[in-house]
Amino acid sequence: MQIIRSLADLPDFRALGGSVGLVPTMGALHDGHGSLISLAREDNDVVVVSDFVNPLQFGEEDDYVNYPRDLDADAELAQRYGADYLFAPAVEDMYPGGTPQISVTTGTMGTVLEGASRPGHFDGVATVVTKLFTLIHPHRAYFGEKDAQQLAIIRRLVTDLNLDVEVVAAPIVRAPDGLAESSRNQRLSPAERDAALVLPQALRLLADGSSVDEARALIDANANVELDYLVVVDPADFGETTKRPALALGALRVGPVRLIDNLRLG
Ligand code: PAF
Repeated sequence: MQIIRSLADLPDFRALGGSVGLVPTMGALHDGHGSLISLAREDNDVVVVSDFVNPLQFGEEDDYVNYPRDLDADAELAQRYGADYLFAPAVEDMYPGGTPQISVTTGTMGTVLEGASRPGHFDGVATVVTKLFTLIHPHRAYFGEKDAQQLAIIRRLVTDLNLDVEVVAAPIVRAPDGLAESSRNQRLSPAERDAALVLPQALRLLADGSSVDEARALIDANANVELDYLVVVDPADFGETTKRPALALGALRVGPVRLIDNLRLG
């Protein structure tokens, strides 16, 4: 596997022949990313993993500076799962003039739920993903279903801007105790990790037919977590719904970390 550290060194991947799969990441790779890389490996001749902590998608309350970064560990994991290239540019290379003058805005889909808690987050995601699509020019790009709102926004980005890429969604990878894999889990103490399990448990209650109030009560009863939201939405527009099929989405704070998770209902 080749590591590419600058935009100037990027090959014309499409000219290499065959199909190109991109797995966009912010590094701190774990087995959840590994499953995306494996999927990309099955589908494509060339697999590129991008590894870039994108400052545009961090708000003031998010910890951009302390976001975990370990290029050697990322390279080891990406190679193990079959990537051909790891693209890990410097921030000055991606944004030479600092915050760009021209960027992508995501509308209402980007301002509810995660977007309400993290203003500007999805505009930052949509902007960097558009840049990555332009730089790598993949035939397919792989995103995890854990970030359900991000996935829906990227699908809409591709449709609305007529981008020449197929978005492929990969299912959530869970630890045996049910916690969804996330780079943020690395920052949980064992006790915080135990407390975090209430989120997949509450989603499971909803899937088993309990009401949103009952599922929220389960989370509220746990003094070590702070619920941000637990809702059931229509996956098409992220508006709250009582219809099925639907998507249950939750976010909570535990210790220093904010975790999200979701489960399909019906
Ligand atoms: O999901 C992520 O890791 C990031 O939001 C993404 C898609 C790589 C954009 O920076």
